[in-house]
Amino acid sequence: MRIISAPDYASMSRKAANLLSAQVILKPDCVLGLATGGTPVGVYKQLVNWYEKGDLDFSKVHTVNLDEYIGLPVTHPQSYRSFMNDNLFNHVNIPIENTNVPNGNAHNMDAECARYEKLIDSLGGVDMQLLGIGNTGHIGFNEPHDRFDTTTHVVTLSEVTIRANARFFDSEADVPRYAVTMGIQTIMKAQKIVLVANGENKADILEKALFGPINPQIPASILQLHRDVTVFADEAALKVIREKHPQAID
Ligand code: PGA
Repeated sequence: MRIISAPDYASMSRKAANLLSAQVILKPDCVLGLATGGTPVGVYKQLVNWYEKGDLDFSKVHTVNLDEYIGLPVTHPQSYRSFMNDNLFNHVNIPIENTNVPNGNAHNMDAECARYEKLIDSLGGVDMQLLGIGNTGHIGFNEPHDRFDTTTHVVTLSEVTIRANARFFDSEADVPRYAVTMGIQTIMKAQKIVLVANGENKADILEKALFGPINPQIPASILQLHRDVTVFADEAALKVIREKHPQAID
């Protein structure tokens, strides 16, 4: 694992975008695993900027998103499909049919989860997976749990996550209580993983996830076992790691 520090959010975003951009340049028909939330917005902005300058071509790229709320209409501005369209897909030349987000409105969610796993396999797996980290240590919507061996499945969101995501909705009551997410096993199958984190409120959980015991109660701790993880974090998010493990930061 490499931990790359950045002075601020803009710089963290640009550095992480560099790696995604290199992936697209080196393998134009790659499969990108994508994430939503506040943290990756700057990464997508940077990718759009490089696309507009003619430096990137998404015409052969396929994408699979980590997760989606259950029961939120796909056209709702806070659905993760809307988020991806607004922040990336509508601004680059990716064919929309190449983009995939789990369907949180499927009648049969078990069948939807199985379909999503199959879809990822049929694309040849994820070349590079972008991740944020939640305050619970979640990746995707994999909340603290008693096991790691999950594939795409339905989850009940934790109170901490509902509170954190309420900032995107009119009120906490409007945040969906359930979601569908790639499982930990699904995420761990990606060839390369890029994790982004910014802000002091991530400093404790980032240190626990990257240096604490590997335990499904801190879902992101499994990343310690992945062979190719690059973490891009700003100095605020690195505060605790900087104190306890300064030698680990590049
Ligand atoms: P955030 O969410 O980027 O909005 O902090 C991270 C996550 O929940 O994965």
